[in-house]
Amino acid sequence: MEDKLHIGLIMDGNGRWASSRHLPRTAGHLAGLKALKKVALGAIKNNVGYLTLYCFSTENWKRPKMEVDYLMGLFSEKVIGELPFFNNNGIKLLFLGDMEPLPEDAKKALNQVIDETKNNGKLIIQLAINYGGQDEVCRAVNRALSKGITLITPEVIRSNFDNPEVPPVDVIARSAGEMRLSNFLLWDSAYAEFISYKKLWPDWDECDIVSIIDDFGKRNRKFGGLGK
Ligand code: FPP
Repeated sequence: MEDKLHIGLIMDGNGRWASSRHLPRTAGHLAGLKALKKVALGAIKNNVGYLTLYCFSTENWKRPKMEVDYLMGLFSEKVIGELPFFNNNGIKLLFLGDMEPLPEDAKKALNQVIDETKNNGKLIIQLAINYGGQDEVCRAVNRALSKGITLITPEVIRSNFDNPEVPPVDVIARSAGEMRLSNFLLWDSAYAEFISYKKLWPDWDECDIVSIIDDFGKRNRKFGGLGK
């Protein structure tokens, strides 16, 4: 699986999608979940190995309580509701982030889907929830210190991540035209390619995965060397 592409997705524009239709912002998040399923199927069809989806950042708690509660509801009810979708399509789910502050029902649902999809292998999806790149590095360092490690190196940090078996992201794509990382995969994006498309996240489908693969294929990755 190591040679398969790892795509990170910053799913932005749900609010704008909803506002342009005179709908509440929450309707944008629900439409975003539907887009996520189409994109996941596109990833499987195109032999992508890993998707990391930025669902809720460590900073998203600042949003109105009603919106936060709605998203937490999606992470419990909808995640469980989509269990047949994950299993029928061979999708294994992993959690990325600090699960501790999440509501109990969301924690329970997420742990259940992780457990019940653990034997799938067609596509690995990391759900980044209460995730922040800075927080990820701090948690990795603290994990290492708690094991008695006294010398912090890049390898020590990487091997103490939540899912160290997942290879670094190859390409990060963001919807809604923004050109920021917004605290997403800070460590692993050191040499990732970055792509931004204008299309709002709820309008994404399988074709956007094909575009990412095509655009990524045109990049000359040099990793600090001289490249091809
Ligand atoms: C950013 O758009 C989007 C989010 C903060 C939420 C993303 C969540 C989903 C797509 C649902 C995932 C669900 C499950 C069950 C995994 P925004 O609200 O910042 O959009 P705006 O910039 O237009 O306001």
